[in-house]
Amino acid sequence: MTGQTSRVEPGSVAFVTGASQGIGEAIGRRLARDGWHVVLSARRREKLDAAVSRIEEEGGSAEAVVLDIRDADAIHETVSDVGKRLGRLDGLVNNAGRFAGRDILNTSIEEFRLNFIMNLEAPFLTMKAALPFMIERGKGAIVNIGSVSGLRATENTAGYGSSKAGLFHFGAIAAMEVGKHGIRVNTVTPGSTWSPSFAKSVDGKSEEEVEAMQKSGTILGRFGMPDEIGDAVAFLLSDEGRFITGVNLPVDGGAFWFRGGNRMIGKRV
Ligand SMILES: NC(=O)c1ccc[n+]([C@@H]2O[C@H](COP(=O)([O-])OP(=O)(O)OC[C@H]3O[C@@H](n4cnc5c(N)ncnc54)[C@H](OP(=O)(O)O)[C@@H]3O)[C@@H](O)[C@H]2O)c1
Repeated sequence: MTGQTSRVEPGSVAFVTGASQGIGEAIGRRLARDGWHVVLSARRREKLDAAVSRIEEEGGSAEAVVLDIRDADAIHETVSDVGKRLGRLDGLVNNAGRFAGRDILNTSIEEFRLNFIMNLEAPFLTMKAALPFMIERGKGAIVNIGSVSGLRATENTAGYGSSKAGLFHFGAIAAMEVGKHGIRVNTVTPGSTWSPSFAKSVDGKSEEEVEAMQKSGTILGRFGMPDEIGDAVAFLLSDEGRFITGVNLPVDGGAFWFRGGNRMIGKRV
């Protein structure tokens, strides 16, 4: 199989949330290429089955489990069942998340809370369910998917940005707690990335407008591809990332640093 670049113990099992499309699907495919058995989870069975088929067509190993991460009991049952059935759980990727872009005055408390339920509580719960299996083997790696909106203040992201900021801090706290068991916890932070939902969010804009957004929003002049997030996650989950824990890795073409206005104008001496 091509693209096998990261070192992964044979038989390793990774659980990925939100893995039926976009960034989560790309993470699943990349992990399978590296030799992981990947458990893809999301709400819609059909889309998950299609993602499993694509991995199997490439010679990888995957299975689908239906899970709505808004349901705390279901998270515990599903993740624990997978760990018991497969006898191990070595990797966990908390990718599924919620984005809603309204200003504070127009954001309901229900919407605000839903961001925290999906972006912060769910990773807390998947981690609680997965950790016993990792502790048993004295080894494991967890990656949470953040967002540039959690690193810098962006208007209209009250619930999203603050829950993603919390996710990074939570990951660092978890890293402190579980390092003694040989378990690493890191955050990968995408900037704008061409997933189906991101593509939908720029629907109606002209090619020129999208081009201008890419140029003014990133150092590298373009938005990311889901595979590029998958590559970073695969590295941090693999043995190649064995000395890295508690960090946040932005994979954003420099979006964190570059917001258009802060490029030097005029001649440089
Ligand atoms: N794309 C970007 O520009 C961007 C930028 C920064 C950060 N991110 C972060 O990257 C992650 C993935 O984003 P994406 O753009 O790839 O998303 P996406 O295209 O909308 O895909 C979302 C995935 O999550 C699943 N999902 C949605 N609600 C769920 C729920 N309640 N329970 C379980 N699964 C659920 C979806 O499948 P079902 O609908 O079938 O459940 C799907 O597989 C998110 O955490 C997002 O915040 C994305």
